[in-house]
Formats: sequence, C-alpha cells, structure tokens
Amino acid sequence: MTSSTPKIAPADGRLGVLVVGLGAVSTTLIAGVELAKRGMGQPFGSMTQMGTIRLGKRTEGRSPLVKDFVPLARLEDIEWGTWDVFPDDAYVAASRAGVLEGGKHIEAISDTLRDIRPMPAAFERKYARNLDGDHTKGDISKRAMLEAIRADINKFRDDKKVDRMVMIWCASTEVFIEPGPAHMTIESFEKAIDANDESIAPSMLYAYAALLEGVPFANGAPNLAVDMPCLRQYATEHNIPISGKDFKTGQTLMKTVLAPMLKARQLGLSGWYSTNILGNRDGEVLDAPENFKTKEESKLGVLEHILEPEKNPELYGDVFHKVSINYYPPRGDNKEGWDNIDIFGWLGYPMQIKVNFLCRDSILAAPLALDLVLFSDLAQRAGLGGIQEWLSFYYKSPQVAPGLYPEHDLFIQLTKLKNTLRWMMGEDQITHLGREYYEDI
Ligand SMILES: NC(=O)c1ccc[n+]([C@@H]2O[C@H](COP(=O)([O-])OP(=O)(O)OC[C@H]3O[C@@H](n4cnc5c(N)ncnc54)[C@H](O)[C@@H]3O)[C@@H](O)[C@H]2O)c1
Repeated sequence: MTSSTPKIAPADGRLGVLVVGLGAVSTTLIAGVELAKRGMGQPFGSMTQMGTIRLGKRTEGRSPLVKDFVPLARLEDIEWGTWDVFPDDAYVAASRAGVLEGGKHIEAISDTLRDIRPMPAAFERKYARNLDGDHTKGDISKRAMLEAIRADINKFRDDKKVDRMVMIWCASTEVFIEPGPAHMTIESFEKAIDANDESIAPSMLYAYAALLEGVPFANGAPNLAVDMPCLRQYATEHNIPISGKDFKTGQTLMKTVLAPMLKARQLGLSGWYSTNILGNRDGEVLDAPENFKTKEESKLGVLEHILEPEKNPELYGDVFHKVSINYYPPRGDNKEGWDNIDIFGWLGYPMQIKVNFLCRDSILAAPLALDLVLFSDLAQRAGLGGIQEWLSFYYKSPQVAPGLYPEHDLFIQLTKLKNTLRWMMGEDQITHLGREYYEDI
C-alpha cells in the first residue's frame, strides 16, 4: 500500500545551491540558469522547466507543466556557492571549459559569472592524480577538512541569506574505492576520519558535511560519496534526501533505451562494444586507470540489470560487453561515441545496430543537474529523507534500498518519477491499464 500523501512546505525564500567542482558541467549549469532567468536561453533537456505531466484520464486533457504542478523553487531564487581546486571564477572556468560560445552565452552574463568564485577545495591529489591545482584547504587532516567544509556551508548560508540549501557533486571522478568496513556505520566512519584512513575520499567528506548540516546531497559522478551504508542510514534517520550516482548522459542514456527494446522484443544480444573520445578535463582525469575503473563499474552494470540473463540465458547469457573512454583533446567537451551492437533474432540469425552519437557532454548533463537540485529541494520540503529512488531517471548507477536491484530502463524510471510527483500532489497513479475507456462503449 502506498503511504499517504506528504505535506509539502512552500518553496518560499532563497535556495542556496552548493556545487562541488566548478568545471564544465557546473559552469554550463550556472550559465544556463542565469541565461534562462533573463530570457536569453531556453532550458532544453530539463524536465522541471520544460516537462509536462498527464493527470487523470486521457479524456480529461489535464497535462500541466511539471513546474506548475509541484511547488519547485524558482530559478530567480537560486544563489550559487562552489568549491574548486583551481581559483578561477565562473567566467574564467566557463571560458576555459569551452562548452558555451563566449560571445553568445558567457559575455552577456559576465558580471554574474565573475562574482561566483570557488571556495578552496577539500582535495587530496591521490584521489585524482591528473589534477594539480593548489586552491585547496591544504594538507590537513580529514577531520579538519570535514570541519572546514561545514564552516563553508554555514558561512555561505549566512552571507547569502539563503533559506534552504542543496549540495550537488559535479567534481572530478575520484579513484575507485569499494565500500569497506570504514563505511558501514557512523561510528566506524568517524573513527576512519580520525585515523586519516585512505578509504575516506574527499567526496565522502563533502557528503557527510552536507548531511551534518541538514543539506540534501546529489552525486553526479560515479565515486561513492553518499552511496555507502553509514551515510545512507544517517540520511534516513535524519530525514535528508540523498541520491546518486553518475549523471546518465551520452552512451549509457542510449543503452538504457535500446537494451529495453531488445528485451521487449526478445531479441538476443551477443556483444555490445562502446567506445568514445572526449577531450575535456573530465576525459583527462578519466585517462588515469584507477579513475576510469570507477566510471567503468558504473557503466557496465546497466546491461546486466536490464537484460536479466539468468531469466533468459539463451538470449543474454553470453554477452561480450566492453566500454572504453579515450582522452582526445581536440574534441574538448564534444564527445563522440560509437556503439556496435551484435544482436540475433528468429532462429539465431545475426544482425547489427550501429550508433554514432556526436553529443555535447555538459549540454546533456547541465539540465540533469538542475532537475536534481530542484527535485532534491522538493523532496526535502515534502519530508522525504534517505534515498530518492524516483530520481533514478537521472543516474547511471541509481542508489536503491539494500536488497533491491536498480531499475535502469529509462521509461520505467520516468514512470516512477512522474508517479512520485502525482503521489506527492494527491493525484491518481497512472497504470496504463485503460479498461475504463472501453467499459461504457
Ligand atoms: N558531462 C557529462 O555528461 C557527465 C556525465 C556523467 C558524469 N559526469 C561527471 O561529472 C563530473 C564533472 O564533469 P565535468 O565535465 O564538469 O568535469 P571537469 O573536470 O570540467 O570539472 C570538475 C571540476 O572538479 C574540480 N575538483 C576535483 N576534485 C575536487 C574536489 N575534491 N573539490 C572541489 N573541486 C574538485 C576540478 O578541479 C574540476 O574543475 C565528473 O566526475 C564527470 O565524470 C559528467
């Protein structure tokens, strides 16, 4: 049985958005919102800004915009805060990221962008070796780092006079760390912080600092950050929304649309080879094998969960799945991805699908970051703490309750998201059964 509809506090006052990392995605997000606010750009790709939601029967003709249906913070009420390893303000960082056209989308809001200066990062080189900025909190203990981030959050709240906050990780992907004993309980996690244990990465300190200050946390990268038992439990007990991991853009987005189609038609799969070239700083960080491993884990799991080989071993029991990212500077943020998909049909006859996606990484990621910020704030005001599985739609490796497998199919994720919004607002769930249209004929 679904629990009763929550009471949602109004989105009054200002929303502080704390973005960890001021790189390609963050500057594209910030500039896009600032342009949209001024009517100088359209927030395409964003469900909260452009999406509609059907309510009631198909015959009722009720399909409001999502932003008119649920009480979301207005773009005009957003205040930005950020941290980075480099001291560049958002104007310089956006220009350097090379995603947006300077004349059209950076100069027009240059004053606002110049006013957004990153706070020194909680950073240790061993978690992202290909970065060597020195705008950091220095070589201090993990405990001191945690306290410094908390102090930054509180200073930001006071200086900018914001009423609520959300933190989103848009910083580089850290080296691969598996959840271990240190991540199981808050006691073991606290002890590991005091012992400067290697298994405590900066992203975890940002996430913990956010939770300690009652701030929802969303994780756009594949590193663990908030995705571990101790922080999950803390967020649940303290009723703070969390979600992750890794924005679902580009190739994985395609995969979670195409693989459900194969499964729906019972077409077999023998191999899926995905490769891409990417020349931005993200690509450079991911060029280090230990950082790529974090990304690889996030990308590989998707097919297995969608195809469920154990249920149809003859169709999906022997799939060769390969994913690679190649750092290729000339393309900058304009990623090109190639997928070669070997499938088979009736009587086992082989066929192939080729996908060549010439995308723009940050153009795809920025609207997801905006939606995650606004929906995390909505969840907080609706009193929904812990993992927000309805936000799986945005992630490559959705965080789910222990014992559950993640739902990767984009359209199931979309249904889950919209049904959650309907539930929040006391509207009927849409099941697509549709018997009622035929009963009175
Ligand atoms: N763009 C996409 O389509 C996409 C999709 C999925 C995930 N991501 C992830 O989003 C993240 C951001 O991507 P991007 O293209 O903006 O990368 P980017 O390299 O342009 O920006 C990341 C920024 O984070 C900073 N940083 C690193 N460690 C930090 C720390 N500890 N504290 C504060 N700042 C820190 C870096 O200096 C850099 O400026 C990456 O982890 C990437 O893997 C991006």
